[in-house]
Amino acid sequence: MLPSKALEQRLQTAVLAVLPEADVTTVLVRPCQDTKFGDYQTSALMALAKARKMNPRQLATDVLAKLDVSDLCAKTDIAGAGFLNFFLKPEVLQDTLLGAVQGKHLFFAKAEQPKTVVIDFSSPNVAKPMHVGHIRSTILGDSLARAFRLLGHNVITDNHIGDWGTQFGMLLLGWKTMLDKAALETDPIAELERIYKQLSADCKADESKLEAAKQELVKLQAGDEENLGIWREMIALSQNQFDTIYGRLGVKFDHVLGESFYNPRLKSVVEELKTKGIAKESDGAICVFSDGSVPQKEDPFLIQRDGEWNANPCLIQKSDGAANYATTDLATLEYRLETWSPDKIIYVTDGRQQLHFRQVFSVFRRWRPEVKVQVEHVWFGAILGDDGKPFKTRSGDTVKLSDLLDEAEERSFKTVNEKSADLDEVTRKEIARVVGIGSVKYQDLMPNRQSDYVFSWDKMLALNGNTAPYLLYAYTRIRSIFRKAAEQGVVVAPGATIHLKAADELALAKQLLNFGFVLEGLVDECRPNYMCNYLYDLAGLYARFFENCPVLKAEEPERSSRLLLCEVTAKVLKQGLEVLGIETTEKM
Ligand code: ARG
Repeated sequence: MLPSKALEQRLQTAVLAVLPEADVTTVLVRPCQDTKFGDYQTSALMALAKARKMNPRQLATDVLAKLDVSDLCAKTDIAGAGFLNFFLKPEVLQDTLLGAVQGKHLFFAKAEQPKTVVIDFSSPNVAKPMHVGHIRSTILGDSLARAFRLLGHNVITDNHIGDWGTQFGMLLLGWKTMLDKAALETDPIAELERIYKQLSADCKADESKLEAAKQELVKLQAGDEENLGIWREMIALSQNQFDTIYGRLGVKFDHVLGESFYNPRLKSVVEELKTKGIAKESDGAICVFSDGSVPQKEDPFLIQRDGEWNANPCLIQKSDGAANYATTDLATLEYRLETWSPDKIIYVTDGRQQLHFRQVFSVFRRWRPEVKVQVEHVWFGAILGDDGKPFKTRSGDTVKLSDLLDEAEERSFKTVNEKSADLDEVTRKEIARVVGIGSVKYQDLMPNRQSDYVFSWDKMLALNGNTAPYLLYAYTRIRSIFRKAAEQGVVVAPGATIHLKAADELALAKQLLNFGFVLEGLVDECRPNYMCNYLYDLAGLYARFFENCPVLKAEEPERSSRLLLCEVTAKVLKQGLEVLGIETTEKM
């Protein structure tokens, strides 16, 4: 068992010995921010004491008297207002590292109670090119799925593609009246986009076109075979395009259940909400209004205008009888509960959908108060250009994801050509692919997800700084030590152990031990940037170690010990990057 987990368990037992009624699930051990105060600490005793009007330092003293951790810790301390600090024994640290070398663990423990988690992400719209706006959802959602899975949770990924809606009226009319078959062959999405744009313009100028488009939509909704056939073809063409991008990004889905999949359920959702008195008619439409159960400031069905609170209802059915986005999301929730009984459902979309999800979640709670599922909207900010406005091409168009990935690979190919001209072309291309795609992903995951960030080729491809190339380079440097060792006939001595003496060795080792905490923090708050910052610090500590502690030039047993330390560092770097969906390369 990891020493931090063992400490935590024993601490919880000791707390129970002193306070038999305490809820010890909050008694957690965390790494100390500053290692001079210890390796791990808990602040939980202060909260327990406060709730019982006890003296926190006295409680800490009493707990410590019941706590035997002499096999794990060289020292335990009560500090400040009642922190308990733990200093690991060097042997314990060394054994833990050796355990990782031997593949027994990688500094994290699988969840004791695995949860079923549905992650709804990417979810682009049919007949439109995937653009840079979809990238954050795709990359963020994929990283969350990887992290949850690594911790042993049962993850179900679901791509809720937009394959239904009023846009199909125009697309169908366009398909029938102005489709360029040859263009459809070469670039189907561009052609679909063209007919859509052209018809939107035509409809604005010509009422009769708008009417014709509406008729096509009505026919589709009524199940007209011809229109259904065309609609299916448009979906298939789009899916092809999505799959190419997902393939390049290494993203997979367990399910692709588009909005249309839920059409058969929509009527009954509306009916149920009406019978339960949650939704009611308003100007011919069916809406959900505030029930006054939460303070006005937090109520998603109210909006403040000129100092007054006004109704801001959630539309469940339009006056023409059509259901909408929120209705589909309610039906989707119902389906997911029935099918997978999840403990948690995570929706990854941009911040502009916050109100939508607050309303959907609130309607859902009123509709199904007995259901325990946790629903969470994991939202993110925008990608901006240099001018601080949404990122666009020079000509002002949205940036297509495929073009963006091409450019990332091309740019990084240039650097690889300059730096590693000696490698053959296939290898250089492959390195450029890993670095290029990795850079795009890392730039996207590294900022706090709720902040907007400025897209910058130079920054993301820089070899210095908190970037993918920096981390990938750190990884290749470690791998090159092992290549050199092999050339020199150097091997790790059989039965070698790890012993840590130099300050830089100790600092690196302690950072490695914290990997699991970072993983758990990422999963708890759905923030992959925690992993980015951790890996950046790890690479920095490794660089210091490598500068100050000779590896291949050291004498045994130091050399083997340090080689092993290098090996686990590489393992953790690789695993951490994998959580971010970033591949590694052996050379750069
Ligand atoms: N298709 C939507 C869009 O592009 C995102 C769907 C998100 N998922 C959901 N269950 N609403 O904006």
